[in-house]
Amino acid sequence: MLATISQRIRRYRTRLLMRSALSGGPLYRLLSRNAGDRFDNRAEGWDQMVGEHEYKWFDPLDAALDHIAPSLQPELVLDVGGGTGRAAYHIARRYPGAHVAVIDLAPRMLEFGKQRGRRENLPGISFVAGDSTGLPVTSSSADLAFILNAPVNPPEMARVLKPGGLVVLAFTYGHHTPMYLDEETARQALGRSGFVSIEAGTRGEGSWVAGVLGYVDS
Ligand SMILES: C[S@@+](CC[C@H](N)C(=O)[O-])C[C@H]1O[C@@H](n2cnc3c(N)ncnc32)[C@H](O)[C@@H]1O
Repeated sequence: MLATISQRIRRYRTRLLMRSALSGGPLYRLLSRNAGDRFDNRAEGWDQMVGEHEYKWFDPLDAALDHIAPSLQPELVLDVGGGTGRAAYHIARRYPGAHVAVIDLAPRMLEFGKQRGRRENLPGISFVAGDSTGLPVTSSSADLAFILNAPVNPPEMARVLKPGGLVVLAFTYGHHTPMYLDEETARQALGRSGFVSIEAGTRGEGSWVAGVLGYVDS
């Protein structure tokens, strides 16, 4: 009973965190204090868990890319809130010509992913410490930014993407994913930040919402 109540409170808090990350305001800053520490303590276990579920973990991300941009040939790809980089290594195989960077708050998640990449001779990718509400990335530089099961800040996505660049929000377990945004909320938030041609879909248990950064007349 107590476990159920505490699970519900945790779930509610995580959903509030996801919503508040959209603007990155004071509530988000309050809720996200120590967010990196929480994942740092789970780096190895998290990486192993994603590894065991790889056959479906990236399904919604692949589904979005297959649907919205089947012939995309990106130069710079950002995996925001990418943790130990499992999805980034997957995407680096999909786009061998691209430079892929994982950005995450949790240094130990990043370090674990980097070390595993070296041990297993995985494709070269970058691991960079940073917050999704203030990315350490040059403006208008990325062709694709994806966020898988992590907090999203659309204004910052719009800043770092090139005009015409693609953002993909993906959730491995659809609405059962703890760090989840419903389609309508995601569509509205992306639209407010200048994304157009917004589409959404599902594959297996996963769901996705994606948009293209519109061109601004100057
Ligand atoms: C549920 S895990 C998902 C990791 C990975 N994307 C995956 O699907 O395996 C959420 C990740 O988001 C990171 N994170 C949470 N808040 C963040 C923020 N504001 N900026 C960057 N990363 C953040 C956490 O450190 C954690 O690695």
